[in-house]
Amino acid sequence: MAENFNVRLNEAKYYTPEASCREQSWIGDYNRAYQAFLADPDGFWDSAARELEWFQPWDQVREWEYPHARWFVNAKLNITYNCLDRHAHSQRRNKVALMWRGETEDEERILTYRQLLQEVCRFANGLSRLGVRKGDRVCIYMPVVPEQIVAMLACARIGAIHTVVFGGFGVSALNQRIRGTAAKVVITADFTYRRGKAIPLKNIVEEAVVKAPSVERIVILRRDAEKPVEIHPEMEVDYHDLMNGVGRECPPEPMDAEDPLFILYTSGTTGSPKGIVHACGGYMVGTYYTTKHIFDVKDSDIYWCTADPGWITGHSYGVYGPLLNGATCLITETTPDYPTPATNWDLIEEYGVTIFYTAPTAIRMFMRVGEEWPNRYNLSSLRILGSVGEPLNPEAFEWFYQTIGKGRCPIVDTWWQTETGMQMLTTTIGEPMRPGFVGKPIPGVVADVVDKTGKPVPPGTGGLLVIKEPWPSMMRTIWNDDERYCKYWDTIPGCYTAADLAVKDEDGYIMVIGRSDDLIVVAGHNIGTAEVESALVSHEAVAEAAVIGKPDALKGNTIKAFVILRDGRQPGDKLKNDLTYHVRLTLGPIAIPSEIEFVRSLPKTRSGKIMRRVLKAQELGMDPGDISTLEE
Ligand code: WT7
Repeated sequence: MAENFNVRLNEAKYYTPEASCREQSWIGDYNRAYQAFLADPDGFWDSAARELEWFQPWDQVREWEYPHARWFVNAKLNITYNCLDRHAHSQRRNKVALMWRGETEDEERILTYRQLLQEVCRFANGLSRLGVRKGDRVCIYMPVVPEQIVAMLACARIGAIHTVVFGGFGVSALNQRIRGTAAKVVITADFTYRRGKAIPLKNIVEEAVVKAPSVERIVILRRDAEKPVEIHPEMEVDYHDLMNGVGRECPPEPMDAEDPLFILYTSGTTGSPKGIVHACGGYMVGTYYTTKHIFDVKDSDIYWCTADPGWITGHSYGVYGPLLNGATCLITETTPDYPTPATNWDLIEEYGVTIFYTAPTAIRMFMRVGEEWPNRYNLSSLRILGSVGEPLNPEAFEWFYQTIGKGRCPIVDTWWQTETGMQMLTTTIGEPMRPGFVGKPIPGVVADVVDKTGKPVPPGTGGLLVIKEPWPSMMRTIWNDDERYCKYWDTIPGCYTAADLAVKDEDGYIMVIGRSDDLIVVAGHNIGTAEVESALVSHEAVAEAAVIGKPDALKGNTIKAFVILRDGRQPGDKLKNDLTYHVRLTLGPIAIPSEIEFVRSLPKTRSGKIMRRVLKAQELGMDPGDISTLEE
């Protein structure tokens, strides 16, 4: 594990945004907010929760029976009441909730809070008509269209547990998730559109429900009005027909704070996917609080999280968090590099996006194609930039900060996981930002970097990132596998172990290096794959890199690097030498790859994480294991 593992903390480089960013933000001074939390953790979450509406208050903020926590004990609520009714009954009634954009310019839909509430109620009534009841599981396998969000909220309205499956997954992954949750209803669409092509989702569902006896009904949103797909009435029902004649009102089901809200399978770069279970009350408070304080959402903001609701980022920061805050959200079915690599910049200008949340893999792609694309657009509406999913290496940070934010916008590089439900570490708005480092635990979270005995490691020494206290939006269990849940709290007694390696600097800023299973032991030294990758990417010729360990009789392992070059750069032996030399200077001789291969693409999960185990299996001629999450 993480001993002997040192990171050279190069000279600290900080960016400090203008003081006004902090002065005008919800979070204010980080230290003050964090100290207030530490002084009274339960009081801290109690007041966050009081900003929302509950049908019945809690007897106790939290009850901690290691490793199981209950939050807002005995309270009753419905998350959709807070996402919709609360705004629809206020001055926000006619405020835009969702702006949807399809692949072409003429495909646009806009829903106000009042309209969204009505749509959700009608669809919820439709689901009830199909016999869906509180506690039943409903699988949502849809493109990014307003109906996808309506379906999620309609389930939550009546207390059904949704399990959203990303529309890019294939038959076996979908089948696995339907069977895993014993879903009663599957909601899908005829097609999703990607890069100008229609991808038939319904056909995939037809194959995926074979050997899934729990499924009673399939609801189909028919988007292609000219050539409507056939509906087989013994099993299937049209999305709109389902709502014929139903009422526009649907009372929100009073949910216990601990009732499950949804199950979401993790993207799984390792092992088989796990059904992460989140609970209604704590998840609501965690996503509400973080969206408000980390993104600083105000009523005037135009908020865009580029993640598909099929991922946790889309759940927490594409749907629930922003709607809980009454924000105006852009959602799109677009691809960032289609029809040109300027799609996102074009949309930011057109919709006047102020808060933009995306992933490092996208940022590096934008870097590769060059700044002439964003430079054609007016991006001055932007005020806050966010990143999530992987380490945001300093070069990508720099590019995002200068080329997109023009040196004005704070970047919140947020570390969290499907399991944590909400953002956990970042550099809050207005605090000095250190490229390569996510920052510190947010107020509400107690985190540290420790060795395997649980002792905090000194600055510069690698260790495991742990969370030391329960938090409201933590997963409650793994569906049908509580034992696997308990393992998260087993590695370091008393702590939640994230399985990420990290290092702290002298100021307490945390750099997340990567998963602990992405560690290569070379001649007794532990080397993080992400460290070597970051070193390679810091070379001007390199766009992306992935490294793996190869067994070696002498050293235990050697490092092999797969490198994608920037447009216009030619592979060759000279460049290999340059890269080797560059890694030597950056990380030292121990981290030098013994092999470099230039490639055009890398195997990634559909959420953009490099699947190193697939590269490794290929390289060693082994079985790559479960590859259901692999992008085509
Ligand atoms: C893993 C969780 C939760 C959002 C999407 C991914 C990595 C996430 C960062 C970051 C470095 C990060 C970690 C984490 N990760 N954010 N800002 N810097 N690494 O959710 O699929 O559950 O993956 O993503 O390795 O454990 P997920």
